[in-house]
Amino acid sequence: MILTSGVVLTGLAQRPAAAQTSAADKDLIFRTTEPRNGEPELAKLVQGWITPNKHFFVRSHAPNPEIDPAEFRLHVDGFVRRPLTLRLDELAQFKQHTITATLTCAGNRRIEFNQEAPVGGVQWEAGAIGNATWTGVALADVLQQAGIQEAARHVCFEGLDQIQKGESTIPFGASIPIDKALLSGREIGALLVTKMNGVTLPVDHGFPLRMVVPGYIGARSVKWLGKITVSDRPSKNHYVATAYKIVKQTEALDWAEAGPIYRFLINAAIGSVDEGATLTAGPVELSGYVLPTGIAGAKVERVMVSTDAGQSWTAAELTGETQDYCWRLWKAKVQVTSQTEQLIVRAQDSSGGFMPARVPWNAKGYLQNSWFRLPVQVQ
Ligand code: MTE
Repeated sequence: MILTSGVVLTGLAQRPAAAQTSAADKDLIFRTTEPRNGEPELAKLVQGWITPNKHFFVRSHAPNPEIDPAEFRLHVDGFVRRPLTLRLDELAQFKQHTITATLTCAGNRRIEFNQEAPVGGVQWEAGAIGNATWTGVALADVLQQAGIQEAARHVCFEGLDQIQKGESTIPFGASIPIDKALLSGREIGALLVTKMNGVTLPVDHGFPLRMVVPGYIGARSVKWLGKITVSDRPSKNHYVATAYKIVKQTEALDWAEAGPIYRFLINAAIGSVDEGATLTAGPVELSGYVLPTGIAGAKVERVMVSTDAGQSWTAAELTGETQDYCWRLWKAKVQVTSQTEQLIVRAQDSSGGFMPARVPWNAKGYLQNSWFRLPVQVQ
């Protein structure tokens, strides 16, 4: 047991997890390697509705912790009648569910904000997104066993990673509203996941246990989950109280005024053509992904592609399955001419979500979902 900043971390070994993280497991472009932050080439990403683990982006704020599954314990405390300490084999006794959900980083497409003014952080292109099947236990079932008290309003999660923040070391944390946490049955609000695409959760993705919160930005899906705390307020963890908010400036008042981001926004990208590619004038087949807004029941209604700076648009054909909180793939045949400088894609969904021509710049470069514009040359 290691004590860090007053947080009890159990099952956490003290050496780095290099042995569990073989570079060969991943086919990603790593933006940073320590910690590991990588995204796939878009052409590989849009090959299938389910993203294979090797092409699934990794976003981590600290080196992977090495966790001994035999020593691992999940603590459930806060506004509950019966605090729990659960081993993995005890968690396995709960009803197991498999869901499909798209995970996307709030910073996906961050790099595009730099055209207006520089933004810090991992310089993500459009690959910080992936769609996988997730197997595990409904958070609602665990909370039911613990017994929720009347005052419960939010459920906070804490990871077993150790992130260096100035002088202190903090875990990654998140929280979600209690109503989302308690969703179960046809729609599971949050899942405690032990398997990804049918195999043991890879260490990059949170082995042995992570949250997956369908419809919410990836930052709410805490990896290497060690603690769940039921609370009357959102988490005080840095990644809820300060980071992952839309602010123009990074003064204390800006952080205080802005609320945490929960749902992801509709988004889309072209995956079949590389930026700056040289195309031959005439018909071109394009394909890509489109993600509806992270609201229950939101369906992609239209994906439109333009080769003439938005003067005319061609409707794309949607492929892949339609499931809540999951992306779809699309394909379109368009004409490019010597006038074509960009391929543009935009989309709208049944919840009223749409991709605007431009989104206002924000200091942390989150939620970039303007028309996806891909510069090309045409011969
Ligand atoms: N959980 C922990 N413990 N530490 C982290 O750094 N990153 C978050 C989230 N959960 C993070 C975490 C962010 S910002 C994202 S986008 C997703 O994990 C990425 O999940 P993935 O690496 O499995 O794709």
